[in-house]
Amino acid sequence: MNVHGLLEGALEALHRQQERARRTLTMIPSENSFSALAKLPQLTDAAHRYFFDPDGDPGTRRFPAGRDASWIETELTLPLLRDLTGATYVNVRPLSGLHAMTVVLSALGGPPDSTVASIDPTHGGHYATTGLARRLGLRPVLIGGPDPYHICYDALTRLVARHHPRLVYLDLCHGLFPIDIAAAVAAVRAAGGATRVHVDVSHTMGLVLGAALPNPLAAGADSFGGSMHKTFPGPQKAILATCDREVADIVATAQVEMISSHHLAAVCSLGLALAEFVACDGPGYAREVVAAAKALGAALDAAGLTPEAAEHGYTGCHQLWARTDGTGVDAVSAAERLERGGIHVNVLNDLPGTDGEPALRLGVAEPIAVGLTAADMPQVAALIAAAVSGARPSTTIARDVAALRAARTRRHQLPPDSPLLARADELARAALSVSDPIAGLASSIRHRHIDPALSVSAPSGGEA
Ligand SMILES: Cc1ncc(COP(=O)(O)O)c(C=O)c1O
Repeated sequence: MNVHGLLEGALEALHRQQERARRTLTMIPSENSFSALAKLPQLTDAAHRYFFDPDGDPGTRRFPAGRDASWIETELTLPLLRDLTGATYVNVRPLSGLHAMTVVLSALGGPPDSTVASIDPTHGGHYATTGLARRLGLRPVLIGGPDPYHICYDALTRLVARHHPRLVYLDLCHGLFPIDIAAAVAAVRAAGGATRVHVDVSHTMGLVLGAALPNPLAAGADSFGGSMHKTFPGPQKAILATCDREVADIVATAQVEMISSHHLAAVCSLGLALAEFVACDGPGYAREVVAAAKALGAALDAAGLTPEAAEHGYTGCHQLWARTDGTGVDAVSAAERLERGGIHVNVLNDLPGTDGEPALRLGVAEPIAVGLTAADMPQVAALIAAAVSGARPSTTIARDVAALRAARTRRHQLPPDSPLLARADELARAALSVSDPIAGLASSIRHRHIDPALSVSAPSGGEA
């Protein structure tokens, strides 16, 4: 096996990935893109370390090598999260949304044979929740609704009264309209009993932390959590938050048995992303995401690509769904045409209300994170419509998309002239130059004139 050649290929692949990211518009609702500053910890020694004791005495740590990076978890990530979530207790140990779901179902779902309620996937519930519950020995029951986009709160009361679930796990994934958490909590409480309510806001975390959507704890939920890399522009990670000491303790006990390496560097990245969110108008970003999704819905409709749920105003969050049959182009071909035009979207056949037919799922969180605004959405809709219909060659659409990207700068992260970024650049260079093999590879990138965007990774001293 030619390992050197494979390494060359890997660097080329990373280069192409960077180029793709720079020139294209990714409109996948479960993805986002976070700042270079927040990526920095993942280049550093923090990526090698364990850290077990966020509440413990630093002097008694069993894994002292991560001492400095762990300061970021305890002094930056956790305090900011407590502030932004309004929670007394925050757990940053789950690696992703599904991992957080596993911990919560295991911790709060009750002993084997207990019932847990979650949203029917035909109404947007996550595909994995019921299967995961069964694997944990739990009995899933499903919450439905009057139409594909909403759940029925009266039916939720009846379901809780009948099945006495230990946990109602609100897992909206394919969702255009956020659940009314206060109404859901009231519906559960109206049934009596001790059912807990957990809200998995994996898709809408950035909108919740930016206060564009209600905070689940303020709305009465016992706990909430989810991914930090969909509408929140952070690393691939998840959190759990609660004000209830008992819930926090039960979750922490399960977490200790289910998660050992929690990826300290990602937690440090999360802390930096949260700090930028606070410093650089995170609420403005969150409001812009919702405004842009609505604007894009209306503009797509005007361009002849009517999104689902037009009668409800298309969306109340970052997602839009669109069937393309009306244009004479099936959704799979439409998604391929969009990719050739530099626009990435999902094509899915399990979106509520689409009868199993493939349809496009679009999101605007990443476009807003990279600097677009709601005012750009008519242009984005025109590019999408032209790509889907084939009215213009994909090369000219891709050129226009790249030009739009180049004309916008990220507004919700530290500005390029921030002295903190100069310091981060020094750290990134040092992180790569301490190891000769890595320094060698980095120098080969530089000699082959790969995108200057990557030059932040090139060593300044190690190979010179
Ligand atoms: C409600 C919900 N929970 C969990 C997940 C899984 O998240 P992750 O991909 O971060 O594991 C998703 C993903 O869409 C989701 O919507």
